[in-house]
Amino acid sequence: MPASRRRFLLGLPAAAAAGAWPAFAQQVRAGIRAGEGESFWRMVKSQFPLEEGLVYLNAANVCPASRPVLDRHERYLRDFQANPSFQNREKYVGLRERLRGKIAGLLRVSPEEIAITRNTSESTNVVVQGLDLKEGDEVVVTAHNHPSNLDSWKVRARRVGFVVRSAPVPVPAGSPEALLQTIERAITPRTRVIAVTHVTNTAGALYPAERIGELARRRGIFFHLDGAQSFGALEVNLRAMGCDSYAASMHKWPMGPLEAGILFVKAERLPGLWPSMVTAGWSEQLSGARKFEVFGQRDDPRVAAIEAAIDFLDLIGMPRVEKRLRQLVSFAKTELARIPGVNLKTDLAAEVSGGVVKFALASPSIKQAYDLLWRQHRMSIAMTAAGDAAGLRWSPHIYNSPEELERAVAAVRSLA
Ligand SMILES: Cc1ncc(COP(=O)(O)O)c(C=O)c1O
Repeated sequence: MPASRRRFLLGLPAAAAAGAWPAFAQQVRAGIRAGEGESFWRMVKSQFPLEEGLVYLNAANVCPASRPVLDRHERYLRDFQANPSFQNREKYVGLRERLRGKIAGLLRVSPEEIAITRNTSESTNVVVQGLDLKEGDEVVVTAHNHPSNLDSWKVRARRVGFVVRSAPVPVPAGSPEALLQTIERAITPRTRVIAVTHVTNTAGALYPAERIGELARRRGIFFHLDGAQSFGALEVNLRAMGCDSYAASMHKWPMGPLEAGILFVKAERLPGLWPSMVTAGWSEQLSGARKFEVFGQRDDPRVAAIEAAIDFLDLIGMPRVEKRLRQLVSFAKTELARIPGVNLKTDLAAEVSGGVVKFALASPSIKQAYDLLWRQHRMSIAMTAAGDAAGLRWSPHIYNSPEELERAVAAVRSLA
């Protein structure tokens, strides 16, 4: 059947079917050669069909997907729904394996060590449920871990009888050494697992993963890292970090489809980690981390669309993404710190912070400020009402412009 007829039957516009990707890729490469000025970033921003006037500063929660991701998702969704036969769906097996290879490449590990899951929560819970732990063992967490990496351990501890020790978190963190010390002090001869967050969603602290990895390795402790706030934001080299497992979501900083995630498990740790879900497709012979992604029927078009998000990051390049992100965040932190009444909970120093900014205001109240910023400035942010990380959270990404950050700072200045 001619391609045009196939496209007609699938209801695809010609541009989406042919893919606007080659033209975009060409523009990106030309922009990089020209030194990626503001016009380059405007072109990147134009790939996100965000509502006009919306100042979206909530990457730490959910990122918008780029046009290439939306196009690819739509294309596969229509293809799947037009022909759900086993024969047509066979290709998704190959697409998933190609995707696994690309994710592994980005994180500098082997494809055998990557599972494609539904989100960070699920990936972390695979580790929580899958490790052999017994009464008397200890698991070190921090009070700023996300519930998927905190309450999950506590619930399992109630069943098994192990102890969950919570390391305190200084706010702001101060230095990598300060964070490392809190973990080191919580370790005892009974510690079997250290489970921390690479960049916290609470106060934006960047934990020194490599040094914690070293500490864990020397003592034979399993080291799990929650990478929900680092994957797609910072350059992540899992081999260098030395963690045993790493969990992340595609719908946050990687700007991929919703409800898609990854789990890395180091090759040596694979045999010792049990799968928590077993169904059709399971086999003792299933190789590598694939044993953690046997969930029954998957949303194949969504999984296939993840590849476009990885291609997008790869094309721009993670060092460039991180550099841009840090420029935006650094501007925001420096300007916010100058406003009387603003109390920054995230460090200015890059060695102990990432893409998340948290700050409190002397007045108005957190909730009032949050509501005013939305109502008067259409600024989409997050807030924490109480506790040591109470305040407003900004998490900009490469689709934000310096002008948006300037407007956001001016809006806070008008409130404070
Ligand atoms: C540090 C951290 N871990 C885990 C999660 C959970 O992510 P998901 O809901 O995609 O599983 C979040 C979500 O905000 C997070 O910030």
